[in-house]
Amino acid sequence: MPFPKQVRLVEVSPRDGLQNEPSPIATATKLELIDRLAAAGITYIEAASFVSPKWVPQMADHREVMTGLTRRPGVTYTALTPNLKGLEAALECGVEEVAVFGAASEAFSQKNINCSVAESLARFEPVLERAKQAKVRVRGYVSCVLGCPYEGEIAPAKVADVSKALYEMGCYEVSLGDTIGVGTPLAAKRMVETVSRDIPMGKLAAHFHDTYGQALANLYAVLEEGISVIDSSVAGLGGCPYAKGASGNVASEDVVYLLNGLGIETGIDLNKLADTGTWITQAIGRPNRSKVSVALAAK
Ligand code: HMG
Ligand code: MG
Repeated sequence: MPFPKQVRLVEVSPRDGLQNEPSPIATATKLELIDRLAAAGITYIEAASFVSPKWVPQMADHREVMTGLTRRPGVTYTALTPNLKGLEAALECGVEEVAVFGAASEAFSQKNINCSVAESLARFEPVLERAKQAKVRVRGYVSCVLGCPYEGEIAPAKVADVSKALYEMGCYEVSLGDTIGVGTPLAAKRMVETVSRDIPMGKLAAHFHDTYGQALANLYAVLEEGISVIDSSVAGLGGCPYAKGASGNVASEDVVYLLNGLGIETGIDLNKLADTGTWITQAIGRPNRSKVSVALAAK
């Protein structure tokens, strides 16, 4: 299959990138990050997470973030909402889009959201209904699509089942999460091929963490399958609190560099994006995990 002409990047650094940071990060820093990302041409930013502050303290300022951000035209600012409580709070803050998150692994579902996969799907139903009433679009995540920190290998058929359930429930897009970054290109290809038997390829996104350094190779493999939405995090920030040892998402700068080289449009200014990566890593005292960003900064 030919590569897509355009790819939409979903920037998850303000949420996935920061949720696991142990020391508090000022709301003002998060807001500046979000605005710098938008200024670099990112049109879709996952800004916050309406989860329990006891579970994920770093996301406790979700209201302040969602109401404090400067909305730029053409940019979608979204948030995670695992249940009705989260959705109602997000709606009060004026969100135009939210995301629910399930898993292809029973053990991960229990650790991450304290319920079974079937229970999570039942919990998402009213979230989808309420969001529809409020004319808010819902994205669906499936975690552990290429492996689980507790269960090991995950069958593509299990990923397909959960993805299909989310899609049929009304999620407009399903993002396939390699939560612990263990996948390799052929496995990623097979997984996407299996899921796309039930869901059109244009409704799927790749959300690959880079723990084992395979994310770019895996993205190349699924681009060949026709995936045209990629989740990434500036400077490769991030990690999931319920997936021990998992490192950040694939770095946005590295994805843009790859796509530029393939002649695939993103509308993103790579230099501005790289500057944002340099700034945020200095601001929070983290290493910059984007090789492209580091290379550009050294010029
Ligand atoms: P629970 O304890 O089963 O829920 O947690 P509960 O309904 O029994 O409520 C317990 C307490 O939490 C109550 O407070 C509720 O009010 C409160 P208390 O009475 O004890 O004071 N509560 C909430 N507070 C704020 N916002 C809410 C909310 N809901 C309940 N929405 C729950 C269930 C899902 C809430 C919990 O397990 C949780 O917050 N988990 C967070 C998990 C998380 O954020 N994980 C990281 C994001 S997922 C990810 O990173 C993967 C992804 O990137 C894709 C990939 O890489 O694979 C998306
Ligand atoms: Mg993630």
